[in-house]
Amino acid sequence: CGIVGYVGGQSALDVVLAGLKRLEYRGYDSAGVAVLADGGLAAAKKAGKLANLEKELADRPLPTGATGIGHTRWATHGAPTDENAHPHLDNAGRVSVVHNGIIENFAALRAELADRGHVLASETDTEVVAHLLAETYSSCGELPEAMRQVCRRLEGAFTLVAVHADAPDLVVGARRNSPLVVGIGEDEAFLASDVAAFIAHTREAVELGQDQVVELRRDGVTVTDFEGAPAPVRAYHVDWDASAAEKDGHDYFMLKEIAEQPKAVADTLLGRVDGSGVLSLDEVRISGEVLREVDKVVIVACGTAYHAGMIAKYAIEHWTRIPCETELASEFRYRDPILDRRTLVIAISQSGETMDTLMALRHAREQGAKVLAICNTNGSTIPRESDAVLYTHAGPEVAVASTKAFLTQLVACYLVALYLAQVRGNKWGDEIRDVVCELAAMGEKVQEVLGTMEPVRELARGLADKNTVLFLGRHVGYPVALEGALKLKELAYMHAEGFAAGELKHGPIALIEDDVPVVVVVPSPRGRSVLHDKIVSNIQEIRARGARTIVIAEEGDEAVAPYADHLVRIPQTPVLLQPLVASVPLQVFACELATARGNEVDQPRNLAKSVTVE
Ligand code: G6P
Repeated sequence: CGIVGYVGGQSALDVVLAGLKRLEYRGYDSAGVAVLADGGLAAAKKAGKLANLEKELADRPLPTGATGIGHTRWATHGAPTDENAHPHLDNAGRVSVVHNGIIENFAALRAELADRGHVLASETDTEVVAHLLAETYSSCGELPEAMRQVCRRLEGAFTLVAVHADAPDLVVGARRNSPLVVGIGEDEAFLASDVAAFIAHTREAVELGQDQVVELRRDGVTVTDFEGAPAPVRAYHVDWDASAAEKDGHDYFMLKEIAEQPKAVADTLLGRVDGSGVLSLDEVRISGEVLREVDKVVIVACGTAYHAGMIAKYAIEHWTRIPCETELASEFRYRDPILDRRTLVIAISQSGETMDTLMALRHAREQGAKVLAICNTNGSTIPRESDAVLYTHAGPEVAVASTKAFLTQLVACYLVALYLAQVRGNKWGDEIRDVVCELAAMGEKVQEVLGTMEPVRELARGLADKNTVLFLGRHVGYPVALEGALKLKELAYMHAEGFAAGELKHGPIALIEDDVPVVVVVPSPRGRSVLHDKIVSNIQEIRARGARTIVIAEEGDEAVAPYADHLVRIPQTPVLLQPLVASVPLQVFACELATARGNEVDQPRNLAKSVTVE
């Protein structure tokens, strides 16, 4: 979500709306504003893009005031409706709050408020905060102190920004594991999810730390921790222009989204895994009874999401022993698939609007199968038409080529597979608990990979004049190879193909000639060492025929080193989780090759982010 707060001499509404426009890439499910004027608080909000809110404001203007907040939403809790749009108000309409993030204990807080007679109008976790703030304010009489007390009660990740009609010159913000920056102007101050929102007014910014509360007034800011102790303020000068600011300083949205992957992975696990390796997916409203009855899983998806589904098949079959097939959504219904009420169909889609996937799930439901959606877009068509949904929390993905959504789809697939195993109580109990704990560490491992990508970029630049790049993998490395090839086609417009390494000898090896680059994804030498040994032989076979080998292998895997013309190291992971780290160098590789070839990275030719035709 995108958040803006303002206090100063200009019309707060104008400043906030202009800021929201610059943040619309962070979410466009709904938008809303609140201003303090004439001793009261006035708010407006509307589902859909910012333009809908602007139209509403033109029809029903708000009074002019000098203090205001605004929000552009990427829905998590509750569908993208007018009611669920931010800001949220308390019952008396004196406090107004906007929020980014997820408040994990909101159900308990909500029940508590209902017991005390509060009436909540929306399905969001945010409204709970508005009510808690109003209640706490009436006992302590100060908005910053009320914010601190409320934050101490919240679990999860959040940015909160609030105003109170009693304090017309004050905006209060709070941050835990979710972005919020302060802009300091002359006789005015700004709060926003990122500097893009206020860069037209000031380049002087203040960074907020974790678990801090900021008080924003025309003449400056005060920062404390959640206990009220003053916190040091670190000021800095922003030297980006407005468009760089939107991309957080990156040249392309794709690069920004690649960099966001550690957080996206962690966010998708948030609240779903506990420290002892137990999963809670209560949001998947398919009963344990139904899940225990499932005798077949079918995954349908397109493009990158299909590759996530291919990897999921390995995980589901290994951990649950339920037969699983993955199929291109566009092929699925036309071959008259065999489905019944014991079939669980998993539809994976970032946008939730892909027509091929939607038609596949409709067909599955007509046959009596249960459909679980894995989706990144709250309230979109695919989750709405499914029996249940597990949302990935990648945040909005702007670049057409999917990166962070893919990694979170993998995480969601692992969660579903492990959850199925847990519910069915199979004999892999210990292994499953271990994997759940390993999964929790994957965000950091992705971060580690991102820190070592310069040689991959350099290698990519050196291959800009090649015509063909081939990708090989085995086991879960096979879909990773397919995804690596897809990325290269999409972005670099090069002939790129992925193969199962064992299939090489049955045909594709004829393509190998002098200096053809071949990327090989090597499975861990630990665990299934037989797979590893086989692929080492494959590397030798292609190298003997002149291929230039680009080898992606685990730290400590010394056996492959002599056969690698270029060696890319990834951290050690359990076999099935390796795609989370092995895919990252391939994304960076494709993006850099596209740049080197002068292609448009975020919007490749002929492609669309969401394809709503069959
Ligand atoms: C389009 C995009 C791909 C994406 C596919 C599936 O073709 O260009 O990047 O993987 O759709 O999209 P979905 O939103 O269903 O995940």
